Parts: sequence; structure tokens; C-alpha cells
Amino acid sequence: MKIAIVGTGYVGLVSAACFAELGHDVIGVDIDAAKVKMLQEGKSPIYEPGLEELLKSGLKTGRLTFTTNLLEALPHVKIVFSAVATPTGEDFKADLRAVFIVAETVAKHIDHDIVFVNKSTVPVGTGKQCEELIQKILKDRGVELHVPVVSNPEFLREGMAVSDTMMPDRIVIGINDMNGAKELMEELYRPITRVGKPVLFMSRESSEIVKYASNAFLATKISFINMLTPLCEITGANIRDVAKGMGLDNRIGPKFLHAGIGYGGSCFPKDVKALLATGKDYGVPMPIIEATHNVNQLQRKNFIDRVLKSLPKKSHVSIWGLSFKPKTDDMREAPSIDVIEALDKAGHTVTAYDPVATEKAKPLLPTSTQYADSPLAASKDADALLVLTEWDAFRGADLGDVKKVMKGDLLFDGRNVYEPEEVKEAGLTYVGIGV
Ligand SMILES: NC(=O)c1ccc[n+]([C@@H]2O[C@H](COP(=O)([O-])OP(=O)(O)OC[C@H]3O[C@@H](n4cnc5c(N)ncnc54)[C@H](O)[C@@H]3O)[C@@H](O)[C@H]2O)c1
Repeated sequence: MKIAIVGTGYVGLVSAACFAELGHDVIGVDIDAAKVKMLQEGKSPIYEPGLEELLKSGLKTGRLTFTTNLLEALPHVKIVFSAVATPTGEDFKADLRAVFIVAETVAKHIDHDIVFVNKSTVPVGTGKQCEELIQKILKDRGVELHVPVVSNPEFLREGMAVSDTMMPDRIVIGINDMNGAKELMEELYRPITRVGKPVLFMSRESSEIVKYASNAFLATKISFINMLTPLCEITGANIRDVAKGMGLDNRIGPKFLHAGIGYGGSCFPKDVKALLATGKDYGVPMPIIEATHNVNQLQRKNFIDRVLKSLPKKSHVSIWGLSFKPKTDDMREAPSIDVIEALDKAGHTVTAYDPVATEKAKPLLPTSTQYADSPLAASKDADALLVLTEWDAFRGADLGDVKKVMKGDLLFDGRNVYEPEEVKEAGLTYVGIGV
């Protein structure tokens, strides 16, 4: 089946490469000419395990192509996906301008029936708005075409995006107009559903809400455990034991109960805010989501305050980890940005190391920030070491060697990666979260 995917970022590119791998003919469209050039050359503009191999294989088979011109993608296409970004706009609302531009362009130029699919995360009611926009333009053009708008939210996790796309926990599809769209979506996903992965059909509104509800729920789990960290610190409890004790209860589960410096990234912060804005629009209070957001802000602030209070004047600080989480180079809303800005403002100097995110981080960090090419090099002569991303490589680091190259002995474990005892044995002073 020929499909077009508009927006070749973390979601669009992974979806395009996976659908091509599964036998569909996919054309990826992006307004970023530099990105499209890289893609045409088989180079992935983002770090995502397994993605470049799929990209190269898709180009080789000819089933995966890229263009900057959406109009080139429309002939004979059966499904057009919008996978453009929907960042936080005014008053916490999702900025939907890119989605509407894509819908408008498609409506102005399409000459046959297609299904328009919102894979971008969009607030409830956006599918209806897209459909009305498309219908109005078609009417103005005087053409009678069937272009239903379907919601198909994406649940992939960065760092695991390829396997999440190939083997998702579930596929959610929201359709209000059953006239052919359901069969087409079933055909599209058949290579995945055939191996037993469930597809849930529901109304477009339910599907749009599922996406925000899922992300807000996961963010709430993180904020819940983070909320308990000061209580553990004051009372001498250990949040890791608390989380373990809770998580082994099947009704609760261990995932998303890791205390740390709060969630970041391109999804949780913006989706939590957008759900709050949607609640406000409809006059529906969202007190739990509000608390989730507030706890997250506070958690980051408390960590920064604690670091600043402990550091001697004009300290040299080593940072391990810049990306918002391991296995990605995504820097959107990464805690490292706030932490390094605060250190810089307070007159400290920073040397940072990240396995893959350094180049993406540079434009977002103070110009005074230095970069090293290994964790040990970043720690040389440091008064303090801050671990901000739980990359696997940091877990196994020889902290004795780290201590030898450092000037000071402070280790702030922003992700609770280490056992306090092993840090102490290495001669370092351990500061964890909720420990
Ligand atoms: N990143 C994730 O982990 C993730 C997971 C699930 C859902 N989502 C949702 O998926 C959507 C996309 O997220 P992302 O992280 O891939 O964003 P992204 O910023 O990585 O990619 C968006 C791409 O769209 C392109 N673009 C913008 N306007 C365009 C236009 N008019 N025509 C063509 N291309 C255009 C940009 O150049 C960019 O390459 C968002 O709504 C996001 O909330 C993201």
C-alpha cells in the first residue's frame, strides 16, 4: 500500500522506516531540506537504535523515499499520516498549526479518496476540526472526495522506538466514519496484528484521549514517587526500597516508579500541560494532573537548590548525561538544560559528557560549557560530579578511578543509579534522591 508520512522526526521517520520494512511503499515528507537530504543519503538525523539500518534497507529496496514537497507524495497514495510536532503553545495548549497546514495542503491538492491519519498527539476534537477544514476546502474546490480523518496515536518510547513500532503493546485507532477507513487501517497494520498484537478500534474522540491519558498517567506515577522523596530523606527511609516494596504488588507494577530529578523530554511535559489546557477549555478540573506538573517542577528546583547550596564558590562541576533519558539524543526539556544554566548563573564552570547528545545539546547550553569525550575526562579536576541521565555506561563506571581524577568528592546521583555504599567505598560523598 502506498502511504505518505508528513513529518520525519522521531515518530514519522521511525514509522516510515518500519512500514517500509513491513512491505508498504512509503514516502516521507519534511519541510526541513537538510534533514531530507540526509535521509536520502541513508543517514539518520536522530540517534535511535536500529533506525539507520532500517533506513538504509528501505532505500535499497526502493520502498522508502523522501521529499520536501508534499504534492509529490500525493499521487496514488491511500493514506496520509500527519506526524508533525505539536509543541506547547500559548497557555499550555498544544500548538496545532503544523497539523492544520498539512491537512490544508492535502485538501487543496488531493484528487482521489484517501484516509488522513493524525499520528501526531492532538487534543480531543482535533480530528473533527481537521475533517471540517478538509471538507470546506474540498467544497470550495468543487470536488467531491471522501477524506475521513482517523486518529492513530503513537506510543513509541524514544530509545526503543523501532521495537515499539514493530511490536507495540497495542494499536489504537479512532474512526467515526466507518466507510472504508477501517478496512484500510486493518490492511496497513496487518503485518503487525498478524503476529498477535492487538488493535483497538474506537471513536476518534476516545482515541485522542487515550494518548493524553496514557502519558499523563505515566507522568503521574513518576511524580507520585518523586513526591515521597523529601519524606524519605527526612525520616531516613530509602525511596528505592519504598518503590521496590510498592512495585512488586501486581496491581501497581515496578515501572515508572524510579525517583529522580523529574520527567523531561518531548512528550510528558507538553502532554501533561496540554491535558490541563483541554480540561480548562471544557471546564473539567484536572487536579491530579495539576499536581503531577507541580511536583515535577518542584523536583527539578529542589535538586538544583540542593546542588547550589552544597557547592563551594566557583566550583568546577562534571556532568554525566545531557539527553532527557538514555538511548536518545533528544534534548527537548532535558533537566540538564536547567541544571547547567543554574550552575553557570551561579558562577560555576561545567564540563559535560554524553554518549550521543552533545551536538544537539551545544546550542541549548551556556556557551561557557566545556565538553569531554569520556566520563573520566569530564570528571578531571571537578569539585562535584552530577549524574543527570542514567546511561548504562555510567552504571558500571569505576568510581575509584573517578575519585582519583576529581579535585573534590561530591557525587549527586540525580537518577539514583548507584548504591550509596559503593559510592562511599570509592571515597566519594553520596547525595541521592530520597535516599
Ligand atoms: N517523540 C516521541 O517520543 C513521541 C512519541 C509519541 C508521540 N509523539 C508525538 O508525535 C508528534 C511528532 O513528534 P516528534 O518527536 O516526531 O517531533 P519532531 O520534532 O522530531 O518531528 C517533527 C517533524 O515534522 C517536520 N515538520 C514540521 N512542520 C511540517 C510541515 N508543515 N510539513 C512537513 N514536515 C513538517 C519537522 O521538520 C520535523 O522533522 C508529536 O505530536 C508528538 O507529541 C512523539
